[in-house]
Amino acid sequence: MFLYQFEDLRSAMLEDATAGLSRDQKSLSSKYFYDKRGSELFEAICELDEYYLTRSEIKIMERHIREICSSLGKRCLLVELGSGSSSKTRLLLKNMDDLTAYVPVDISGKFLQQTVNELEKEYPALKVMPVVRDYTQPFDIPDIPDVRRTVLYFPGSTIGNFPKAQARAFLERLCSILSVGDGLLIGVDALKDVSVLEAAYNDSQGITAAFNKNILIRLNKELEANFDINRFTHKAWFNSEEKRIEMHLISDTEQTVTIRDMPFHFREGETIHTENSCKYSDEDFRSLVAGLFEIEHMWMDSSAFFYVYYLRKR
Ligand SMILES: C[S@@+](CC[C@H](N)C(=O)[O-])C[C@H]1O[C@@H](n2cnc3c(N)ncnc32)[C@H](O)[C@@H]1O
Repeated sequence: MFLYQFEDLRSAMLEDATAGLSRDQKSLSSKYFYDKRGSELFEAICELDEYYLTRSEIKIMERHIREICSSLGKRCLLVELGSGSSSKTRLLLKNMDDLTAYVPVDISGKFLQQTVNELEKEYPALKVMPVVRDYTQPFDIPDIPDVRRTVLYFPGSTIGNFPKAQARAFLERLCSILSVGDGLLIGVDALKDVSVLEAAYNDSQGITAAFNKNILIRLNKELEANFDINRFTHKAWFNSEEKRIEMHLISDTEQTVTIRDMPFHFREGETIHTENSCKYSDEDFRSLVAGLFEIEHMWMDSSAFFYVYYLRKR
């Protein structure tokens, strides 16, 4: 397998975790959910009844696949940010017969490798060029001959993980690495009833709780931390001012945890903020991309739970 770029994330993780846990509102970046176990748990979340996001996005993709593929056009270089299991991408791969190459980019290296092995079996003629990388760090699009258009694919409403000001800065950066006429195919979770939103992140089987706690297990394994995961409780709620679901780990008791001998004190009830999932109205999303991209198409499901946009760089 060809890994186009690789970087060791562990020192960045140590720096980020100790900085995040030293703030008044303790926080850990959601990008550290995703080791192999975290990616597997995310796949299990996608299967949950309460987690409407994946189902809604797939329905939109299936229904409009012809129009979506024709927007992407011929001899396209498809670069997916946070590709995970590439499950939605397979719909594109099946329906685009002259894709020049597919570049899945993901921070979760082992899981990416497993996905690429599957893709190579399923699509032997497809050129797959995986990149193990943190896409929040600067990166260039690989220079591949015979490409008519580069399209960045960013499904799963992963854009929602950025607070809104950072989402705009991230989209500006994506815009800066594209050429005029290139595209961005992006999935965005819509604002909806709070009970539906909160149920999606507090599932009855406890899979999201296990996913959330996996970040602590990872710090224990990779940064010699000593979190007792039984002394933290998962909870997610809608922050109506910021229009986002926030996922937290609540300390059940007063306790001190160490990471490589550095102590971090928790009061009873104090939380670690582990993830944002910002929700957008169509109008909010249009103003987020205004001046950067033109909206060429917008598709949604019949419940208006989820939007898929095809944006073209101006
Ligand atoms: C919410 S999942 C979405 C997966 C898939 N695209 C989908 O729509 O089902 C987010 C994916 O992005 C990856 N990811 C999260 N933060 C990342 C980062 N900073 N750099 C690269 N990959 C990241 C995760 O490993 C995971 O596969």
